[in-house]
Amino acid sequence: MIWKRKVREDAVEPIETTPEAAPMPENAEPATTVAFRADPAVSLIETPAAPASGELFRRPAAEPGPMLPRFMASASDDVETDLANENARRRLALRDALGASQPVVAREAFAGRRDAMAALINAVEEQRVHVVIYGERGIGKTSLAHVFAETAREARYLVIYGSCGTAANFSDMFRSVCARIPRIYHASVLPNSPEAEKGDTFEVMLPDGPFGARELADVMAGVVGTRVLIILDEYDRVVDVNFRREVAELIKNLSDRAARVQLVITGVALNLDELIGYAPSIRRNITGLPMRPMSGGEVKELLRQGERAAEIRFDNAAVAMITQMAGGSPYLVRLLGHQAGILAMNDNRAVVGDADARSAVERVIAEWQASLPRRVQANLARDEARTHWPLLVAAARAGSSADGWFTVDDVYAEMGGTQSPLAIERDLKLFVNTVDLLERREGPGDPHFRFGYPGVASLLMMSAAMARLAA
Ligand SMILES: Nc1ncnc2c1ncn2[C@@H]1O[C@H](COP(=O)(O)OP(=O)(O)O)[C@@H](O)[C@H]1O
Ligand SMILES: [Mg+2]
Repeated sequence: MIWKRKVREDAVEPIETTPEAAPMPENAEPATTVAFRADPAVSLIETPAAPASGELFRRPAAEPGPMLPRFMASASDDVETDLANENARRRLALRDALGASQPVVAREAFAGRRDAMAALINAVEEQRVHVVIYGERGIGKTSLAHVFAETAREARYLVIYGSCGTAANFSDMFRSVCARIPRIYHASVLPNSPEAEKGDTFEVMLPDGPFGARELADVMAGVVGTRVLIILDEYDRVVDVNFRREVAELIKNLSDRAARVQLVITGVALNLDELIGYAPSIRRNITGLPMRPMSGGEVKELLRQGERAAEIRFDNAAVAMITQMAGGSPYLVRLLGHQAGILAMNDNRAVVGDADARSAVERVIAEWQASLPRRVQANLARDEARTHWPLLVAAARAGSSADGWFTVDDVYAEMGGTQSPLAIERDLKLFVNTVDLLERREGPGDPHFRFGYPGVASLLMMSAAMARLAA
């Protein structure tokens, strides 16, 4: 059965394209038009088919194809201009409410996550431990960290936020952290002393040149009059193993000395060990906070922000569709909600329905696919990929829990035992060796696999879900 993309009648309406519509492209190469098959039998992304040649000849030559976008109202007509302005305003409001390119930084824009917030506050305030927030990309770690930072600042914590890059270096990172802690918060400095008046920071107390965890803890143990929270976002990106070792050492030193400094670390990972490294000595000083997929109620709450901003309403079917397709990712909820809302507004409807949600999914899948590097698109279009489509979808699901790594057993479970583990392992290897879609990691225990390019797994899952719906 073929499920074709409907040629929309409203193509004359200006269609707002969102720069973020392609989920988190990284080094995206120019798009090509390689057909992407959701299933050997179901073509998900299909450009409108060319009309049969007979039909083509019957058409008058002047008949235009899909028209170029037009303005919505005439500039000479004030009433319509007002209407157009009003429409434009609502579109912008929808984009502000549901655009998915930025993490949330303000509490008003933050939906749900009360449990995670409560757990985070409790760990910091009651248990006085360091916290590691982990979970998959797009699940909302950075947003939680920002909104938590705002809340902590209200409680007079001194919060310093830093995003780690691949090249993060311990001394440089913490030198800049120290440069943001005023020296008046150090026990050695009296309130009206010259050092305090000079406006110095903790940085002046650090050794020149590189330093380690112990020297840093010596300085930080002197914090008085406030509590310092250091947020290290995107910790998983740091390549240098030495950085991680020093941070573990810092946690140990700060804890041993009961310093008024706590770390909040976020990163993509399956579990604590993976992010922090196995360091039993600091285990009781840290709490792991896994970020879970958003619940149905949280998804609704997030969509409600779009409803309020743009004066529209998502009907129950649309909410159900978006909830199912997003799989608990706030990122996807926003992306789909935004697109579906625009489609309804293009039709001058205030209610976003099932069909809008469906078209939004199609559009997101198409744009997502187009944003993949050419080589990945070509690999997805190969015969091997089509033949083993159920395996790839099962693999995507198996890896969706956190960081993307999965084992043969995980895929076996996802496939409901329809194939032997041996056959699964053989086929997975095909996608490591012959078709470059998976990576393989050897180590203690079973070999692990994962999709080599971010976003491919989510794309596979969404298109499989869509194909199921169409069937
Ligand atoms: N609680 C939330 N409420 C509303 N939007 C959210 C929430 N959490 C995340 N988002 C949105 O989801 C997307 C991904 O969030 P982000 O915090 O960057 O995830 P991560 O850091 O885990 O990759 C962003 O567009 C952000 O605006
Ligand atoms: Mg993040």
